[in-house]
Amino acid sequence: MAGFQEPLAKRPKIEGYCRFNSKSTHIPIQQSPVRNVNGYFGNKQHSSNIPVPKSINTPQGKANGSGGIHSNRNTDHLKNLFKQRSALPIFPARSRLLEELKKSDVVIVIGETGSGKTTQIPQYLHEERWDRKGTICITQPRRVAAITIAKRVAEEMNTNLGGLVGYSVRFEELVSQSTKLKYVTDGMLLREAISDPLLSKYSWIILDEAHERTISTDVLFGIVKGAQKSRKIVAGDPLKVIVMSATMDVDHFSNYFNKCPVLYIEGRQHPVEMFYAREKQEDYILATMSTVFQIHKEAPPQHDILVFLTGQEEIDSVTHSIRQIAKDSSLQEYPKLRVYPLYAALPALQQLDVFRETASGERKIIISTNIAETSVTIPGIRYVVDSGRAKIRTYIPGSGFDVLKVKKISQAQAWQRTGRAGRETSGCCYRAYTLNEFNAMTVNPVPEILRSNLASVILQLVAVGIKNILTFDFIDKPSALHVQQAVEHLSLLGAITLRSETLELTETGKKMAQFPIDPRYAKIILSGPEYGCTDEILTIVAVLSSESIYINPSGKKDVAANTRRKFTSVEGDHITMLKIFRAFKASKENKVWAHENYLNHRNLMYAIAVRKQLVQVCQRCDISIVSCQQNFDSVRRCIVAGLFTNVAELQFGGKYITLDTKQEATLHPTSVLFGGKPAYVLFSELVVTGKTYMHINSVVDAQWLYEVAPEYFRKRHIKR
Ligand code: CDP
Ligand code: MG
Repeated sequence: MAGFQEPLAKRPKIEGYCRFNSKSTHIPIQQSPVRNVNGYFGNKQHSSNIPVPKSINTPQGKANGSGGIHSNRNTDHLKNLFKQRSALPIFPARSRLLEELKKSDVVIVIGETGSGKTTQIPQYLHEERWDRKGTICITQPRRVAAITIAKRVAEEMNTNLGGLVGYSVRFEELVSQSTKLKYVTDGMLLREAISDPLLSKYSWIILDEAHERTISTDVLFGIVKGAQKSRKIVAGDPLKVIVMSATMDVDHFSNYFNKCPVLYIEGRQHPVEMFYAREKQEDYILATMSTVFQIHKEAPPQHDILVFLTGQEEIDSVTHSIRQIAKDSSLQEYPKLRVYPLYAALPALQQLDVFRETASGERKIIISTNIAETSVTIPGIRYVVDSGRAKIRTYIPGSGFDVLKVKKISQAQAWQRTGRAGRETSGCCYRAYTLNEFNAMTVNPVPEILRSNLASVILQLVAVGIKNILTFDFIDKPSALHVQQAVEHLSLLGAITLRSETLELTETGKKMAQFPIDPRYAKIILSGPEYGCTDEILTIVAVLSSESIYINPSGKKDVAANTRRKFTSVEGDHITMLKIFRAFKASKENKVWAHENYLNHRNLMYAIAVRKQLVQVCQRCDISIVSCQQNFDSVRRCIVAGLFTNVAELQFGGKYITLDTKQEATLHPTSVLFGGKPAYVLFSELVVTGKTYMHINSVVDAQWLYEVAPEYFRKRHIKR
């Protein structure tokens, strides 16, 4: 996205690309939907083809408001909430749904996003007291979903969050003895399985958003299935399981769960008219922006637009560009635009903007990642503009690491995006790709487990007691080669040993599994005492576990970078972060100080909270916390102990080649090392956006690499 923002902002007239011209056909105001956006053609055939499942169709739901609902604060607000609950598509299906849930140990529930699956089903179970002595656990792939949904359900049940309804996500938990409905991230439940493989605390486990196929959910399918089987033997302690989604490959899942029943909740899906790009678009960002402005010129006010793009940086930049373009005098005759970004890392308060009702005479445009596909429902949307792309984590074969890459989505995701336009009334979906491109997309997304680094999950599986990964009951088995590479990586880190097909955790591995972080970072923390810098390492890992601590306002990026220059370390980004964290602590966590230095106060506070939790794990594992004060060399050496597979070497001609996969990579412009040419660079992450960029880097010494992993580097013949 570098270099994108400025030229666009200065080019308010969107012309000369994407075959859109300024002479768009006049559409009479009030007539909706907009049909004639240049460069697209309608596909009536598909408009009614959004896979809308059959309904359970038994409108005899109990208007049960008593059960788990405390009636002591019977305010208008509560009445209103109850009215909203009763209006949800799931409500009429309540009794029929419960009947089915009673009959089977595993049930798959499919229902359009917003139909009430996640918020209502756990409440129905509790209202019937089917949770018995146990807890109902609902997993979510995203922490923001787990927290916001728990908040909403606590409100609906008129209880305080952390009481009857709680949540548990990485580094943050709000639960108590009385918690009966617990919303958790899938990663957290997997972690719990390490100490309790039978998941004996829970009477119901609801694996939600199953279509996302995150590694943790995929592994949980196997663990929950195993726990259910084992618990059947123990009389009176059955484990009931619900698998939920808005869209998924139902047969595949049902077969995996021994042909379990599938229930469909009928959503309110209105017809959506489809348009495809006539021609393949070279630049999907320009294509989507151009489409947005064409719609804007045609559609009546309050007809809101949802745009699907890829990642935070791209979305912030496009949001800024649209806001700039909207200031142009030629656009003043059209409705006033409110443009909002939406991605998982956005602070909760800012996320609320998205859900605000659009004022009369205005239009809301939301630029979102795939989070708006299923995790959240935004009111007012009439138009969807789909770039057909998403940022996807992908494993580089032969290496120990993943890269974040912008990729084409699957057809299932495209339909899900389309459906967002028909939630409240009929709408339109513009696909900024051709019908041929759509047909070439994979039908379903590739499960994360088949495209990611498995080291973390294998470490956890071994910790749960699964010693032969290849015989584990995966819904989709990763390849033997893929497993072998992860096993090799874990052996290199000293976490496991392999004896005749059986994996065992070493003492180091046992400790590594205690940390809710990537095994490589756990290894760095465990190496802290050896290098005399646990204290510093804990800070760096905590900052890396948080969202970016930097604020780079559009148009003021240089000012922000210059202001922060006083913290810059020539040793790289890790030490720079350490210095910033120390200065922040010295300021007594001052908000104004953070703001003046273009630092994100909220994320710094989060890093402090994470650090506290990491310290607790260290104490549990008997790891001494020592400080090296200003001896930053030892800090960098310690980082090498875990991240030695993430190193790139400078070549003649100034390019970098990664030692592990021998691919070309470039220092990211946001790195403090950008512009310099150290011989060896250790990077935290590779991100592919056009080029392959190394993010968050430190200068390292070739000698250190040999000291940490002599065998590994001998094979790679680096210069010393
Ligand atoms: O899981 P599903 O997509 O079927 O729906 P849900 O998450 O249970 O949401 C049902 C409804 O509750 C939504 O349409 C929203 O109106 C409301 N809701 C909300 O207001 N705030 C939340 N954090 C979650 C849901
Ligand atoms: Mg849901």
